[in-house]
Amino acid sequence: MQTYLVGGAVRDQLLGLKVKDRDWVVVGATPEQMKARGFKQVGADFPVFLHPKTGEEYALARTERKQGRGYHGFSVYSAPDVTLEEDLKRRDLTINAMAQAEDGQLVDPFDGHADLEHKTLRHVSEAFAEDPLRILRTARFAARLHPLGFSICPETMTLMRQMITDGELEHLVPERVWQEIQRALHENAPTVFFEVLRELGALGVLIPELEDATVFRAGVKALACIHHQQGNTAQRFAALLGAVPEELAITRAKSMKSPNDCRDMSRLVCRFMAELSRHPADSLSAEDTLELLDAADLWRRSERFDALLDTLACTLPEAQQSLLEQLHAAAGEATGVNPQDLLKQGFMGKELGEAIRNERLARITRVLNPSS
Ligand code: CTP
Repeated sequence: MQTYLVGGAVRDQLLGLKVKDRDWVVVGATPEQMKARGFKQVGADFPVFLHPKTGEEYALARTERKQGRGYHGFSVYSAPDVTLEEDLKRRDLTINAMAQAEDGQLVDPFDGHADLEHKTLRHVSEAFAEDPLRILRTARFAARLHPLGFSICPETMTLMRQMITDGELEHLVPERVWQEIQRALHENAPTVFFEVLRELGALGVLIPELEDATVFRAGVKALACIHHQQGNTAQRFAALLGAVPEELAITRAKSMKSPNDCRDMSRLVCRFMAELSRHPADSLSAEDTLELLDAADLWRRSERFDALLDTLACTLPEAQQSLLEQLHAAAGEATGVNPQDLLKQGFMGKELGEAIRNERLARITRVLNPSS
């Protein structure tokens, strides 16, 4: 049996990037032989094993044939006669379909090395079309490698367009789509991911709210800004959907099965965007301000509120940026109200609630109108 390093590790090594996970392919072995050598079998569907010492993944060489639609319908064939080349051929991109033998020699039947040098993302074979998730993966690699000058070759763009026309994306489960989107939001050039999907006509299926050119432009601009500030996933997601009406953004976030923090941040950004855009700079009333602080649950979620303001700094037009300073100053004062002090003054129950509100309002009024 022979063992080869494959996939991302070979690619990243040749690119001079840090290698994260190392995956291996074993040719000429049976599951029984692997187990006899102390490997632990994982995964019911594929013949994949964990190395007894390193814990790294060793997969027996396999071929895959698509049988149904979407992500589940694969039949896997694995036997000692499956060659390394056959295993590499079922993979997505040529730069991901290289292997390295134990003596260090590169095995590169699909010219992945040349594509690395030409900075080209190219599908290995027509088998690419058997897995629609690869459309998202390819857009994600474009987003990752864009700063190095990589782009997707026209033939692969054409193939992906055809897959989309054939309705392949509709068969992906939301969890897999979200996993790719979440990773894409943190790639080196996250906006490229969405630009590629837009160019392919994939947004109509995945995030139709971003199809509108103005909404899309605002979204990618805000995403680039929050990426620059190293924002978290929720901030990035919310920035992208910042110009979408609140109800639509919430529905989309839910149907994408995005985590709660992403939904909440998106809801708040859209809500604040709508409210603030109704006000010219410096015209927020104390009541409106308090209502917004309440809506953001500043009192219990002050860190999230800071993250919200940072995100809004990326989504709001220049003319309204000064509203954020007002919100920031108002929040600083209003959170200083101490319910314990009011309790000591004898306020209780409903009256305590009212006293807290009045005190917050008074403080906000002083911040917003320092001269009065
Ligand atoms: N692969 C594929 N099609 C997929 C998923 C994976 O062909 N839908 C292949 C590719 O050859 C890929 C390898 O499996 O290189 C390992 O996949 P994965 O670990 O998901 O990606 P990496 O290429 O290692 O990239 P990353 O740096 O994002 O982990």
